[in-house]
Amino acid sequence: MDALIPILNKLQDAFNTVGSESIQLPQIVVVGSQSAGKSSVLECIVGRDFLPRGSGIVTRRPLTLQLIHTPVEDKDVQCQRLGITVPNENEFGIFTHIQNRVYTDFNEIRLEIEAETDRISGKKNICKEPITLQIYSPKVVTLTLIDLPGLTKIPVDDQPVDIEQQVRNLIIHYISNPNAIILAITPANVDFSTSEAVKFAKEVDPEGQRTLAVLTKLDLMDRGTDAYDVLCGRVIPVKLGIIGVVNRSQEDINKKKPIDEALRYESAFLQKTYPSIASRNGTPFLAKTLNRLLMYHIRDCLPSLKARINQMVSHFQTLVNSFGEPIEDKGRLLLQIITKFASNYCGTIEGTAKNIEVSELC
Ligand code: GDP
Ligand code: NA
Ligand code: MG
Repeated sequence: MDALIPILNKLQDAFNTVGSESIQLPQIVVVGSQSAGKSSVLECIVGRDFLPRGSGIVTRRPLTLQLIHTPVEDKDVQCQRLGITVPNENEFGIFTHIQNRVYTDFNEIRLEIEAETDRISGKKNICKEPITLQIYSPKVVTLTLIDLPGLTKIPVDDQPVDIEQQVRNLIIHYISNPNAIILAITPANVDFSTSEAVKFAKEVDPEGQRTLAVLTKLDLMDRGTDAYDVLCGRVIPVKLGIIGVVNRSQEDINKKKPIDEALRYESAFLQKTYPSIASRNGTPFLAKTLNRLLMYHIRDCLPSLKARINQMVSHFQTLVNSFGEPIEDKGRLLLQIITKFASNYCGTIEGTAKNIEVSELC
């Protein structure tokens, strides 16, 4: 997302200057079956560890993750606005359900997401009320990401019998938003031709204009099989692309493998296993592709910015023209203004003003 930050900031300044609505970036929503790797993919996009992950239905409430770009020099003003103090960190998180608590430790953020999930939905059920987490950081683009519960087939333990329908409704609600970019996530160790994620995305985005497919767990495929056909779009084509990634395994997470180490592993894995298409896959390429989609979106917003600027230019032109006679030189304009001022507010000195030499005023 690095490349977007300066461009977006300049444009947002421009929008603010002409007093129009700034650019609203699309929301990025992940869809896929349970344990497909949705939370893992989102975490990689943000570049920080803080989402609960694991086997089973870990994400049981939608998480609305609002990233808010906050340059270091604006931090104090932002904190003042929020009524908080954050002495030593430039990156911090706030939950909308907790007043007066600022999180600078991302592990604590994860624990609070888990606790709040249990608090509202119990240990098994899913719940459609989102948890809203705001992350203020100089390193993020102002953008909303939505982590959703995964598609399930069979209720386990004491889950409600209609849990599948509940999750479906929830997902449809979020991906129907025409301003959502859908990341349809499928693990490479299941049959891509039956991908629930891709099927789901097609329901709301039949033309595939806002769906990007992500194939996770490339490292977990059966020996002797590979994902070339899927990644090259020969199984199901996806217009915006199908990007293969290798995220951290549960063991990596338990051992607290850092993100940059995981990225090096992914890159080496792709070079070795998919040499001819390695450069078109992997988490950094996914981030770059998302960046490009966001750029297209921004480009689509520009005509309205231009129209607004033109409107303002003609407004000011009219204002200048209303001063009366054409402006020949600065001195003359100044004399006109002073004369006008004098006749309006101190009629008695009108004559005096008229006698002032233009040259004296310049
Ligand atoms: P979600 O339920 O779709 O959000 O999936 P998670 O992101 O929680 O991942 C489920 C489990 O799969 C976790 O234990 C992850 O560590 C693991 N996982 C996710 N992606 C990969 C991957 O690419 N390779 C491997 N080996 N494990 C992965
Ligand atoms: Na999971
Ligand atoms: Mg999850």
